[in-house]
Amino acid sequence: MLAALREVRGTFGLGVVAKGKTEQIVVARRGSPLILGIGDGEVFAASDVSALVSHTKNVVYLQDDDVAVLTPKGYHLRNLEESKVFRAPTTVDWDISAAEKQGYAHFMLKEIHEQPDAVANAMRGRIIEPEGIAKLGGLDAVLDRLADMDRLIIISCGTSYYAGLLGRYVLETATDYSVEVDLASEFRYRKLNFRPKTAVLAISQSGETLDTLAAVQEAKRKGALVLGIVNVVGSNIARETHAGVYNHAGPEIGVASTKAFISQLTIVYLLTLLLARRQRMDVNEGRQFIRELEAIPEKIQRILAQADQIHAVAKKYAQFSNFLYVGRKFNYPIALEGALKLKEISYLHAEAYAAGEMKHGPIALIDPNFPSMCLVPRDSSYEKMVSNIQEIRARSGPVICVATEGDRDIYRMADDVIHVPASDELFTPLLTVVPLQLFAYYVALERGCEIDQPRNLAKSVTVE
Ligand code: AGP
Repeated sequence: MLAALREVRGTFGLGVVAKGKTEQIVVARRGSPLILGIGDGEVFAASDVSALVSHTKNVVYLQDDDVAVLTPKGYHLRNLEESKVFRAPTTVDWDISAAEKQGYAHFMLKEIHEQPDAVANAMRGRIIEPEGIAKLGGLDAVLDRLADMDRLIIISCGTSYYAGLLGRYVLETATDYSVEVDLASEFRYRKLNFRPKTAVLAISQSGETLDTLAAVQEAKRKGALVLGIVNVVGSNIARETHAGVYNHAGPEIGVASTKAFISQLTIVYLLTLLLARRQRMDVNEGRQFIRELEAIPEKIQRILAQADQIHAVAKKYAQFSNFLYVGRKFNYPIALEGALKLKEISYLHAEAYAAGEMKHGPIALIDPNFPSMCLVPRDSSYEKMVSNIQEIRARSGPVICVATEGDRDIYRMADDVIHVPASDELFTPLLTVVPLQLFAYYVALERGCEIDQPRNLAKSVTVE
């Protein structure tokens, strides 16, 4: 096995049983996740901790080119050069119930309903209220270097990329840093001229996304300070980054990311608070920022209580084939995320645009068979969003609005309205995303789709 693996190119996560040696499994990894579970008189191997927790909470994260021989009595580890290696065991800090549906029809629905907790867990122990600041222990060692950076590049894929896009708006609003966001898969093709004070922030739920991992390694090679926001403890990206923050969102099983996204956003807000307080945000503004954030779990709860109404709206639109999602400013990344959710689990075509772009092309699509999901909370871009909605109406396009509670004007221009509680505009994305998740979920349900494991998709994308 060692001799064969020395010839192998590319990534792998392997389990091999030799004919006639059924008491022994040889496992090896490069690039793909592989975790051992150490039980009492039994040893397990899996690509994800959630497969192990019903058997044991003691796990060992293998690293690239580790080869382990498992027997009922235990395991031993070598690298490809046949030297013994040691990987410290760790204990999984969440319970099996977190990896079960607990009465929900799907993991995705359960995870949508766990979002108030996901926000609270991301904040727990990370707020110093009297001083109006955030404390992110994982960044302590690099805080001065981070505060001194002159450029921050956020890299990620899919939903995590949209968390990064929102991060740019939020960080630029509250701090003086210059923030860029890039798809990890494209970051690698750019000829980046890194200055010494460049920091790179990777966002990844799984911590195993190969494009993000490769981008992290590239940024390290170029001398950047590389940070992570990662949910899965001990994952590759968590280990490769110089410092980082864990989400503590618990396992996310549904392929379509929901609670991890809201948790990523929460940490982006905390990071913003941390950096802004070292710049131009005073203590009172910091405390107000915290109050807004702390109010979010209860506000999400109020949106979740409208699940039946959102289901009714979804049922009405489930037979349409194409959707347009539009938003501006803080809600533009949420439009992108909402459209991705619908695409992933209902297999319907959904495009998202910054609403200001409509006149540059997508408005040509609008007709009675092309509904638009419009994110129109009462914020600084409200009037412009209203103009966009009127343009859609003028072309007989059906309009669904996500609007602020108490906004009666919106009924005059929308076919259907879903309400979110009022909040400071900086924080509205933490609310507006929730109805879009529920809408996608119920459309997929009405269409009889495989919600937790949609076709052609994997939870961790460990291939390029
Ligand atoms: C989200 O619903 C998708 N499953 C997908 O876009 C995902 O966000 C992306 O693959 C990135 O995954 P990561 O956060 O684990 O890196």
